[in-house]
Amino acid sequence: MAKTAPSTAELPKGDTRWFTHDRFGMFIHWGLYSQGARHEWLMHNEQIPVEDYERQYLKRFDPDLYDPEAWADAAANAGMKYFVITTKHHEGFCLWDSRHTDYKATNTAARRDLLRPMVDAFRARGVRVGFYYSLLDWHHPQNTIDDRIGPYRARSEEERARMNKGRAQAKYARYMRDQVTELLTGFGQVDVMWFDFSYPDKDRPADFTKGKGRLAWESEKLYKLVRRLQPSVIVDNRLDLPGAWDVMTPEQFQPREWVTVDGERVVWEACQTFSGSWGYHRGEADWRDTDQLIRTLIDCVSKGGNLLLNVGPTGRGEFDARALDRLTGIGAWMKRHNRSIYGCTEAPAGVRTPEDCRLTYNPATGRLYVHVFAWPYMQLYIDGLGGKVEYAQFLHDASQLTLGLDDWRSHQAGASNRPDTLVVNLPQKRPDAAVPVIELFLK
Ligand code: GLC
Repeated sequence: MAKTAPSTAELPKGDTRWFTHDRFGMFIHWGLYSQGARHEWLMHNEQIPVEDYERQYLKRFDPDLYDPEAWADAAANAGMKYFVITTKHHEGFCLWDSRHTDYKATNTAARRDLLRPMVDAFRARGVRVGFYYSLLDWHHPQNTIDDRIGPYRARSEEERARMNKGRAQAKYARYMRDQVTELLTGFGQVDVMWFDFSYPDKDRPADFTKGKGRLAWESEKLYKLVRRLQPSVIVDNRLDLPGAWDVMTPEQFQPREWVTVDGERVVWEACQTFSGSWGYHRGEADWRDTDQLIRTLIDCVSKGGNLLLNVGPTGRGEFDARALDRLTGIGAWMKRHNRSIYGCTEAPAGVRTPEDCRLTYNPATGRLYVHVFAWPYMQLYIDGLGGKVEYAQFLHDASQLTLGLDDWRSHQAGASNRPDTLVVNLPQKRPDAAVPVIELFLK
C-alpha cells in the first residue's frame, strides 16, 4: 500500500465528553452467524462459499423471540450507558432495510427492519446509540478478494485475477458510503461510529495476498462523510487514517496503563467478550464470571479508559441465560457502586495503589475510590494520601470507616507510621459485594 498520508490532521473530531464520563457500554454482535453458533467468523474459518452461506442462513433467520425492549432493559440495568450494534459484520448481512442491498433483515423470515426498534428501545432508556459497520465484506460482489480473510483463497496471481474479474473496489467503497449515509441520516443522532477493520501491512506476496486499508476503503472520503453527516459522532481508530479518530480500541486484551499514542494519553475503550467469540457461540464453555468482568470494568476506569462488553444474542433473538446472569450480577454491583465508575478516571499522580486494589477518582467531586480485590487483614494503607483525606466510608452502604492506626497497633513491630501514608481501618469480614469499594473524601 502506498504511504501517502491523508490530510486528516485538521479534520474535526467527535465529542468524547459524554464518553469519558459514561465509561461502560454494551457491544452486540448479531447477524446470520448467530445461527451457526460457532463464531462470527465461521464463513472464513470453514471457507463457506457465498452462495452456500446465503442459502443456509438468510431465509432461516427467524428471531421470533427478539425483544429489543428486553435487550435495552438488560443493558440499562447493568449500568451500561451506550451500545454498539453490528449493523453489518464481515459476512455482509445488514440488520436494517438498506436500499443498496437485498442481503438484509427484510429478506429473512423476520421480514422487517431489526435495527430500528433496537435503536428506539435503547434510546428510550437513555442508552446512547453506536453503529458498528464492517469494512470487510465477504458477500459484496464488488469487494475484491485480495487476502486470506474470508471464504476464498487464491493459490496464484492468475487465480486471484480470475476471482476478481468484474469486481471493482471503488464500487464497493461507494456502497459503504451509501450505507453509512443511510445509517447516519435515517436513525436520528448516532453517538458512536465503529468501523472494523484495516490491515494495510498484511501484504504477503508468497500467498498472493494484499492488505487492505485506507486506499481500499477510501477511508478519507468515508471519514469526511461521517463528519459532515454527524459532526460530533465518535469514530474509532480502525479506518487506517492516522489522526482521524477519536478512540483507540484494544480488543480481547487489557492495557497495562493508560493508552498512549506518540507519547500522548488518548481516549480509549477496551472491547471484551464473555467467552472469546463475539457472535453467539453455543459450545464455548469458559465464560468469565461476574466478578472478573466487574474487575475488568474497574481496571479500565482506573487507567482512564472505557469498557465495551459484548453480548452475542441467539438466532431466535435472545440474550442467553449465561449472558443475563453476568449482566444481572454486574447490575447488582453497579446499582451501589456506579459512583466509582461514572465520571471517574485514573487517580491523581502521587497516590500509590495499595496491594490488590484499583483506584479511580472523580475530579469533579474530589472523591477517590479504592476497589479492594482481595480483603486485607484489618488495615489498608495508601501511600501518598496521609493527611489528605477528610472522611471515609464504604460505598455500598455509606458506613463510616475510621482512619489512622490506634496507639496499641502503631507501636508494634512492622507498623508503618509514615506521615504520608493513610491508614483505613476495615471490618474483619469482607462486605458482601463482588468488589467492595471505599469512598475517600479528599480535603
Ligand atoms: C475483530 C473481529 C470481529 C469483532 C471485532 C470486535 O476485528 O474481526 O469479529 O467484531 O474484532 O472488536
